[in-house]
Amino acid sequence: MTIDYQERIPNNVGLAENRTLQRALEHWQPRFLDWWREMGPSDFLDCDVYLRTATSVDAKGWASYGTVKMPDYRWGIFLADAVPDRTIGFGDEFGKPAWQQVPGEHRSTLRRLIVTQGDTEPASVEQQRLLGHSCPSLYDLRNLFQVNVEEGRHLWAMVYLLHAYFGRDGREEAEELLTRHSGDADKPRILGTFNEPISDWLSFFMFTYFTDRDGKFQLKSLAESGFDPLARSCQFMLTEEAHHMFVGDTGIARVVRRTLEVMKELGSEDPAAVRGKGAIDLPTIQRYLNFWFSSSLDLFGAEISSNAASYFATGIKGRPDEASFADHLCKEGAMTFEAPDGKGGVTTDAVPLRNAMNEAVRSAYVRDCEIGVKRWNRLIVKAGYTSELSLPSPRFRRGIGAWAGRPVDPAGNIISAAEWQAKLPGWIPSEADRSFVKSQMQRVTTPGKMAAWIAPPERGINNLPLDYEYVHLH
Ligand SMILES: [Fe+2]
Ligand SMILES: [Fe+2]
Repeated sequence: MTIDYQERIPNNVGLAENRTLQRALEHWQPRFLDWWREMGPSDFLDCDVYLRTATSVDAKGWASYGTVKMPDYRWGIFLADAVPDRTIGFGDEFGKPAWQQVPGEHRSTLRRLIVTQGDTEPASVEQQRLLGHSCPSLYDLRNLFQVNVEEGRHLWAMVYLLHAYFGRDGREEAEELLTRHSGDADKPRILGTFNEPISDWLSFFMFTYFTDRDGKFQLKSLAESGFDPLARSCQFMLTEEAHHMFVGDTGIARVVRRTLEVMKELGSEDPAAVRGKGAIDLPTIQRYLNFWFSSSLDLFGAEISSNAASYFATGIKGRPDEASFADHLCKEGAMTFEAPDGKGGVTTDAVPLRNAMNEAVRSAYVRDCEIGVKRWNRLIVKAGYTSELSLPSPRFRRGIGAWAGRPVDPAGNIISAAEWQAKLPGWIPSEADRSFVKSQMQRVTTPGKMAAWIAPPERGINNLPLDYEYVHLH
């Protein structure tokens, strides 16, 4: 379905036919733009940026590229095409028609899920708002802005659902999404991870690799929802989300590549020597990885969850790729997982499948995370080194679930509290690591040039050369 860009709010949901909704959203739009000016990328409002914009929601070519000033980006409302006679794919409602309106009994649950998802979108823009000042290249600066405008659009996607389907309380929630701010002492964002500032680019690449990937799995679960407008909205968001993870995946690969080049030049793996040449040593990359992977795991919730069970039972939230499972009811059977036994050992718990949904999704996430790590390790092997990057154990440094607050090393071994206290600083970025990484964040804005700590990408955006001026700074 083609998107109408003549409209004040581009959309493929027939907004012009619903004057009340259109007026309500046109009333919200200037508030969103105020938010963008205040809380979006700082100091780049007047720059021309080479961005892609959605033109159609089908697979053929949904993106059109062009130069635009960010406040003029055409944020809009795009739903994937409807599947005729779609039915609910899981839970107690399996096989019944998908809901085109919100069922009364699920209203508050659905609203809460949409608000929580919606809250993360502008939160990440806020977390990243100062990063542009220290961009390693114009190519990267453009990618940051592309991610930012699309997270802004994801906010639009959730605000549309709130306005269109939740009446007055939906409109109030939409306002609140612009008044909570990442890291704000009085009105913080809902989820903890989204209140941490992202003040260096290594963290940005880790965030887009690990935390946006949590987003991918949340969206994939919601894309299965019995509430059809939510499902269609999330399906389209996933096509945008893929680019964010590409930015993280290739970003980390380029950092690793540069580090390997420097190690070769030096004939040494010594972290201090590598740092002396302005690159980021592999152990530091590993510590950043430990930090972001472990904090992203918490976003999936506890292993045993009655909420997750009820989302599944009621048809509100399914499993990613629900169609790929044989059993869509999950009434029988159990999932086993290991939990601390409280005596320094490990015990195996069997949890009814529906109560273990968070863990099922988290396991799929971990497998997805491993793909990139393997790719980065191949670069290391190809360069002739034996060191490896690895995901820490999912038990490591957890804040939620059975392993929360347990002293566990990155390999997953239970250790003493004293050993944990002593060794943790070596497993995650120390103050010294952070200040070193920060010290390397020098802004590079000559087209085609890269900062000393990162290799160039393999190709430019949309087949343009690498030295194209992706952001025109004034
Ligand atoms: Fe998003
Ligand atoms: Fe994203």
